[in-house]
Amino acid sequence: MENVNKLSVSGLDFSYGDKKILQDLSFDVKAGEFVSILGPSGCGKSTLLNILAGILKVERGEVCIEGQKVEGVNPHFAYMPQNDLLLPWKTILDNVCLYSEIHGNKKEVKALAAEQMKRFGLEGYENSFPSELSGGMRQRAAFLRTTLCDADIYLLDEPFGALDVITRNDLQDWLVKLCRDLNKTILLVTHDTDEAIYLSDRILILGRPGEGIRQEIRIEEKDRSREWLYDQGKLRGEIYNIIKQKASL
Ligand SMILES: Nc1ncnc2c1ncn2[C@@H]1O[C@H](COP(=O)(O)OP(=O)(O)OP(=O)(O)O)[C@@H](O)[C@H]1O
Ligand SMILES: [Mg+2]
Repeated sequence: MENVNKLSVSGLDFSYGDKKILQDLSFDVKAGEFVSILGPSGCGKSTLLNILAGILKVERGEVCIEGQKVEGVNPHFAYMPQNDLLLPWKTILDNVCLYSEIHGNKKEVKALAAEQMKRFGLEGYENSFPSELSGGMRQRAAFLRTTLCDADIYLLDEPFGALDVITRNDLQDWLVKLCRDLNKTILLVTHDTDEAIYLSDRILILGRPGEGIRQEIRIEEKDRSREWLYDQGKLRGEIYNIIKQKASL
């Protein structure tokens, strides 16, 4: 079991009409690994997460969890899409408990959610509706909903994009702890190089549509701190240059 990857993606092809987005895309993720996906806007990051979440179907290639091929929606994955997809007719508390309602353990999760509302800056908004919340608050509610899901692989599409720096740092640290303590496997899409360096064990940089993984960077430092991050200027510059490269390079 030790050597089996938690997640294996092999030879994925996906196009929208005749526009090739993913071509022969392959990578593996170990159990408990935190992997960030960086790449230029439009390169196919959200498309990839949509495929893993079972929303889009690939033309070729396969996705395996612990060596078993999976297709369609799979309970191993908890997905936070780029747009928050909160249900407008449900209160915030009911929205964040949505998946537990589907899985039939709503009571326990509701208690846990009520506890977490404070950490997520949503205390006092339990009975509000999504339309009454700011963009950042909606994002936090969608993030909380995802992490309350009883899944072992989190697919997170820019979960911290709209947050103020204090809340973002707090939730980033909380997510790393969750990953380490509960051995959750995390695939995080982000545009923020610092966020990727600080959080990840490994960074995958996608090229232009159809180009695949341009580079993979392993972050070795295990005792990371915000101070440590300030010293990563060289790495930050390297990642920036890789993202900036033209497809033909
Ligand atoms: N439903 C769709 N129909 C046709 N083309 C689409 C559709 N969704 C996305 N695309 C195109 O596929 C490409 C990849 O889109 P995707 O949303 O995966 O990019 P992304 O890497 O997540 O970008 P961003 O960083 O801006 O979120 C883009 O060129 C986009 O225009
Ligand atoms: Mg996207």
